[in-house]
Amino acid sequence: MEQITDYLCRYKNYNFAIDFTTPEYIDSLQSFEIRDSDLFLVTYPKSGTIWTQQIIISICDLEGGLKDKKAKIIYVMRNPKDNIVSYYHFCLNCSDLETPKSFEDFFEQYLTGNVGASSWFDHIREWHLKRDQYDILFLSYEDMILDLKAAVTKICTFLGKNLSEADIEKVVEKSTFNNMKKDLRANYEFLPQKKVKADFMRKGKIGDWKNTLSAAQSQRVDQLLQERLSDLSLNFIWE
Ligand code: A3P
Repeated sequence: MEQITDYLCRYKNYNFAIDFTTPEYIDSLQSFEIRDSDLFLVTYPKSGTIWTQQIIISICDLEGGLKDKKAKIIYVMRNPKDNIVSYYHFCLNCSDLETPKSFEDFFEQYLTGNVGASSWFDHIREWHLKRDQYDILFLSYEDMILDLKAAVTKICTFLGKNLSEADIEKVVEKSTFNNMKKDLRANYEFLPQKKVKADFMRKGKIGDWKNTLSAAQSQRVDQLLQERLSDLSLNFIWE
Protein backbone atom coordinates (compact mmCIF):
# COMPACT_ATOMS: atom_id res chain seq x y z
CA MET A 1 0.00 0.00 0.00
CA GLU A 2 1.34 3.37 -0.96
CA GLN A 3 0.34 6.31 1.22
CA ILE A 4 -0.73 9.19 -1.05
CA THR A 5 -2.12 11.75 1.44
CA ASP A 6 -2.54 11.94 5.23
CA TYR A 7 -5.89 10.17 4.80
CA LEU A 8 -5.53 7.98 1.70
CA CYS A 9 -3.44 5.10 0.52
CA ARG A 10 -3.45 3.36 -2.84
CA TYR A 11 -3.45 -0.32 -3.73
CA LYS A 12 -4.00 -1.91 -7.15
CA ASN A 13 -5.06 1.45 -8.61
CA TYR A 14 -7.75 2.14 -6.00
CA ASN A 15 -7.81 4.51 -3.07
CA PHE A 16 -8.56 3.37 0.46
CA ALA A 17 -8.90 5.27 3.72
CA ILE A 18 -5.80 4.78 5.82
CA ASP A 19 -6.16 2.22 8.64
CA PHE A 20 -9.46 0.91 7.28
CA THR A 21 -8.11 -2.11 5.41
CA THR A 22 -4.99 -4.10 4.53
CA PRO A 23 -3.61 -5.51 1.25
CA GLU A 24 -4.13 -9.01 2.70
CA TYR A 25 -7.80 -8.34 3.29
CA ILE A 26 -8.29 -6.89 -0.20
CA ASP A 27 -6.50 -9.87 -1.77
CA SER A 28 -8.60 -12.29 0.26
CA LEU A 29 -11.72 -10.94 -1.48
CA GLN A 30 -10.57 -12.68 -4.67
CA SER A 31 -11.71 -15.92 -3.11
CA PHE A 32 -14.85 -14.51 -1.48
CA GLU A 33 -17.53 -17.11 -2.04
CA ILE A 34 -20.55 -15.72 -3.85
CA ARG A 35 -23.84 -17.52 -3.35
CA ASP A 36 -26.53 -17.71 -6.01
CA SER A 37 -28.94 -15.82 -3.79
CA ASP A 38 -26.56 -12.89 -3.13
CA LEU A 39 -27.58 -9.41 -4.13
CA PHE A 40 -24.96 -6.68 -4.47
CA LEU A 41 -25.76 -2.99 -4.41
CA VAL A 42 -22.99 -1.03 -6.15
CA THR A 43 -22.67 2.74 -6.20
CA TYR A 44 -20.07 5.45 -6.21
CA PRO A 45 -20.53 7.10 -2.77
CA LYS A 46 -23.31 9.66 -2.45
CA SER A 47 -25.35 8.30 -5.34
CA GLY A 48 -28.35 7.01 -3.40
CA THR A 49 -26.96 3.91 -1.66
CA ILE A 50 -29.03 4.13 1.51
CA TRP A 51 -32.12 5.05 -0.48
CA THR A 52 -31.82 1.94 -2.65
CA GLN A 53 -31.06 -0.18 0.44
CA GLN A 54 -34.28 1.09 1.99
CA ILE A 55 -36.24 0.03 -1.10
CA ILE A 56 -34.63 -3.41 -1.28
CA ILE A 57 -35.08 -4.08 2.45
CA SER A 58 -38.71 -2.95 2.30
CA ILE A 59 -39.41 -5.21 -0.69
CA CYS A 60 -37.74 -8.20 0.99
CA ASP A 61 -39.58 -7.54 4.29
CA LEU A 62 -42.87 -7.82 2.42
CA GLU A 63 -42.01 -10.79 0.25
CA GLY A 64 -39.48 -13.00 2.06
CA GLY A 65 -35.98 -14.14 1.01
CA LEU A 66 -34.43 -14.12 -2.44
CA LYS A 67 -34.79 -17.44 -4.15
CA ASP A 68 -33.12 -16.93 -7.48
CA LYS A 69 -30.27 -18.92 -8.92
CA LYS A 70 -27.71 -16.28 -9.77
CA ALA A 71 -26.19 -13.42 -7.81
CA LYS A 72 -27.67 -10.11 -8.88
CA ILE A 73 -26.26 -6.62 -8.92
CA ILE A 74 -28.08 -3.30 -8.72
CA TYR A 75 -25.93 -0.38 -9.85
CA VAL A 76 -27.07 3.16 -9.05
CA MET A 77 -25.51 6.12 -10.84
CA ARG A 78 -25.96 9.80 -10.04
CA ASN A 79 -25.07 12.79 -12.20
CA PRO A 80 -21.52 13.81 -11.27
CA LYS A 81 -22.27 17.46 -10.53
CA ASP A 82 -24.79 16.65 -7.80
CA ASN A 83 -22.56 13.78 -6.73
CA ILE A 84 -19.59 16.11 -6.17
CA VAL A 85 -21.66 18.48 -4.03
CA SER A 86 -23.17 15.68 -1.97
CA TYR A 87 -19.74 14.05 -1.48
CA TYR A 88 -18.23 17.41 -0.48
CA HIS A 89 -20.85 17.94 2.24
CA PHE A 90 -20.39 14.38 3.44
CA CYS A 91 -16.61 14.90 3.80
CA LEU A 92 -17.23 18.14 5.69
CA ASN A 93 -19.32 16.24 8.19
CA CYS A 94 -17.61 12.91 8.61
CA SER A 95 -14.79 12.87 11.14
CA ASP A 96 -13.14 9.82 9.50
CA LEU A 97 -12.64 11.60 6.19
CA GLU A 98 -10.29 14.39 5.28
CA THR A 99 -12.05 17.73 5.72
CA PRO A 100 -11.92 19.56 2.37
CA LYS A 101 -10.03 22.85 2.48
CA SER A 102 -12.56 24.43 0.15
CA PHE A 103 -15.06 23.36 -2.46
CA GLU A 104 -12.58 24.36 -5.21
CA ASP A 105 -9.94 22.10 -3.70
CA PHE A 106 -12.34 19.17 -3.31
CA PHE A 107 -13.59 19.66 -6.87
CA GLU A 108 -10.04 19.28 -8.22
CA GLN A 109 -9.40 16.18 -6.13
CA TYR A 110 -12.66 14.61 -7.24
CA LEU A 111 -11.90 15.18 -10.92
CA THR A 112 -8.48 13.59 -10.59
CA GLY A 113 -9.87 10.66 -8.59
CA ASN A 114 -7.88 11.73 -5.56
CA VAL A 115 -10.72 11.06 -3.11
CA GLY A 116 -11.54 8.05 -0.95
CA ALA A 117 -13.73 6.40 -3.59
CA SER A 118 -11.16 6.89 -6.41
CA SER A 119 -12.41 8.18 -9.76
CA TRP A 120 -16.13 8.57 -10.41
CA PHE A 121 -15.39 8.38 -14.16
CA ASP A 122 -13.55 5.04 -13.80
CA HIS A 123 -16.31 3.65 -11.58
CA ILE A 124 -19.00 4.42 -14.12
CA ARG A 125 -16.88 3.20 -17.03
CA GLU A 126 -15.81 -0.09 -15.45
CA TRP A 127 -19.30 -1.08 -14.37
CA HIS A 128 -20.90 -0.19 -17.68
CA LEU A 129 -18.27 -2.18 -19.56
CA LYS A 130 -19.08 -5.18 -17.35
CA ARG A 131 -22.79 -5.04 -18.02
CA ASP A 132 -22.84 -8.17 -20.20
CA GLN A 133 -20.89 -10.25 -17.71
CA TYR A 134 -23.40 -9.94 -14.89
CA ASP A 135 -27.06 -10.02 -14.08
CA ILE A 136 -27.16 -6.29 -13.47
CA LEU A 137 -29.85 -3.62 -13.23
CA PHE A 138 -28.72 -0.05 -13.89
CA LEU A 139 -30.71 2.67 -12.19
CA SER A 140 -30.11 6.36 -11.88
CA TYR A 141 -30.71 8.56 -8.87
CA GLU A 142 -32.50 11.02 -11.12
CA ASP A 143 -34.93 8.42 -12.50
CA MET A 144 -35.67 7.41 -8.91
CA ILE A 145 -36.45 11.03 -8.02
CA LEU A 146 -38.62 11.56 -11.09
CA ASP A 147 -40.64 8.35 -10.67
CA LEU A 148 -40.01 6.43 -7.45
CA LYS A 149 -42.87 4.00 -8.04
CA ALA A 150 -41.47 3.05 -11.46
CA ALA A 151 -38.04 2.47 -9.86
CA VAL A 152 -39.53 0.29 -7.10
CA THR A 153 -41.46 -1.70 -9.70
CA LYS A 154 -38.27 -2.20 -11.77
CA ILE A 155 -36.40 -3.45 -8.70
CA CYS A 156 -39.25 -5.84 -7.86
CA THR A 157 -39.25 -7.24 -11.39
CA PHE A 158 -35.47 -7.61 -11.37
CA LEU A 159 -35.56 -9.45 -8.04
CA GLY A 160 -38.41 -11.66 -9.23
CA LYS A 161 -40.71 -10.29 -6.52
CA ASN A 162 -44.38 -10.26 -7.12
CA LEU A 163 -45.68 -7.44 -4.94
CA SER A 164 -49.28 -6.30 -5.02
CA GLU A 165 -50.04 -2.71 -6.00
CA ALA A 166 -50.75 -1.92 -2.33
CA ASP A 167 -47.40 -3.37 -1.21
CA ILE A 168 -45.55 -1.41 -3.90
CA GLU A 169 -47.19 1.73 -2.54
CA LYS A 170 -46.00 0.78 0.97
CA VAL A 171 -42.40 0.46 -0.26
CA VAL A 172 -42.67 3.82 -2.03
CA GLU A 173 -44.04 5.43 1.12
CA LYS A 174 -41.21 4.05 3.27
CA SER A 175 -38.66 5.30 0.75
CA THR A 176 -39.70 8.92 0.29
CA PHE A 177 -37.10 11.47 1.32
CA ASN A 178 -39.27 12.91 4.09
CA ASN A 179 -39.99 9.53 5.63
CA MET A 180 -36.38 8.39 5.41
CA LYS A 181 -35.27 11.61 7.06
CA LYS A 182 -37.24 10.54 10.14
CA ASP A 183 -35.91 6.96 9.98
CA LEU A 184 -33.12 6.43 12.55
CA ARG A 185 -31.75 3.43 10.65
CA ALA A 186 -31.46 5.38 7.39
CA ASN A 187 -29.62 8.16 9.24
CA TYR A 188 -27.13 5.75 10.81
CA GLU A 189 -28.13 6.97 14.28
CA PHE A 190 -26.82 3.66 15.63
CA LEU A 191 -23.19 4.47 14.74
CA PRO A 192 -20.91 4.67 17.79
CA GLN A 193 -20.86 8.27 19.05
CA LYS A 194 -22.55 9.23 15.80
CA LYS A 195 -19.34 10.03 13.93
CA VAL A 196 -21.27 11.66 11.14
CA LYS A 197 -22.66 14.91 12.45
CA ALA A 198 -25.11 15.76 9.69
CA ASP A 199 -28.10 13.84 8.37
CA PHE A 200 -27.43 11.31 5.64
CA MET A 201 -30.62 12.75 4.18
CA ARG A 202 -29.26 16.18 3.29
CA LYS A 203 -31.32 17.69 0.43
CA GLY A 204 -32.33 14.79 -1.80
CA LYS A 205 -32.70 16.85 -4.98
CA ILE A 206 -31.61 16.97 -8.60
CA GLY A 207 -29.81 20.18 -9.56
CA ASP A 208 -28.47 21.35 -6.18
CA TRP A 209 -25.08 21.63 -7.94
CA LYS A 210 -26.25 24.91 -9.47
CA ASN A 211 -25.92 26.50 -6.01
CA THR A 212 -22.27 25.48 -5.73
CA LEU A 213 -20.49 24.86 -9.05
CA SER A 214 -19.30 27.86 -11.06
CA ALA A 215 -20.04 27.99 -14.80
CA ALA A 216 -16.40 27.12 -15.47
CA GLN A 217 -16.50 24.11 -13.12
CA SER A 218 -19.70 22.88 -14.71
CA GLN A 219 -18.10 23.14 -18.17
CA ARG A 220 -15.08 21.17 -17.00
CA VAL A 221 -17.31 18.32 -15.89
CA ASP A 222 -19.11 18.43 -19.26
CA GLN A 223 -15.80 18.33 -21.06
CA LEU A 224 -14.52 15.38 -19.03
CA LEU A 225 -17.76 13.49 -19.62
CA GLN A 226 -17.28 14.07 -23.31
CA GLU A 227 -13.64 12.96 -23.24
CA ARG A 228 -14.01 9.96 -20.97
CA LEU A 229 -17.51 8.55 -21.23
CA SER A 230 -19.09 9.73 -24.48
CA ASP A 231 -18.72 6.27 -26.08
CA LEU A 232 -21.06 4.83 -23.41
CA SER A 233 -23.95 7.06 -24.59
CA LEU A 234 -25.13 7.75 -21.05
CA ASN A 235 -28.04 10.06 -20.41
CA PHE A 236 -27.68 12.54 -17.57
CA ILE A 237 -30.50 14.52 -16.04
CA TRP A 238 -29.13 17.77 -14.60
CA GLU A 239 -32.22 19.45 -13.15
P1 A3P B 1 -27.70 14.90 -1.01
O1 A3P B 1 -26.45 15.04 -0.21
O2 A3P B 1 -27.61 15.57 -2.37
O3 A3P B 1 -28.94 15.32 -0.29
P2 A3P B 1 -25.56 7.69 -0.30
O4 A3P B 1 -26.63 6.94 0.42
O5 A3P B 1 -24.99 6.91 -1.47
O6 A3P B 1 -24.51 8.19 0.63
O7 A3P B 1 -26.25 8.95 -1.01
C1 A3P B 1 -26.66 10.07 -0.25
C2 A3P B 1 -27.52 11.00 -1.10
O8 A3P B 1 -28.78 10.37 -1.40
C3 A3P B 1 -27.83 12.30 -0.35
O9 A3P B 1 -27.90 13.33 -1.35
C4 A3P B 1 -29.21 11.97 0.23
O10 A3P B 1 -29.98 13.10 0.60
C5 A3P B 1 -29.83 11.24 -0.95
N1 A3P B 1 -31.01 10.45 -0.58
C6 A3P B 1 -31.09 9.50 0.36
N2 A3P B 1 -32.35 9.04 0.46
C7 A3P B 1 -33.09 9.72 -0.44
C8 A3P B 1 -34.48 9.72 -0.83
N3 A3P B 1 -35.37 8.94 -0.23
N4 A3P B 1 -34.87 10.57 -1.81
C9 A3P B 1 -33.98 11.38 -2.42
N5 A3P B 1 -32.66 11.44 -2.10
C10 A3P B 1 -32.23 10.62 -1.13
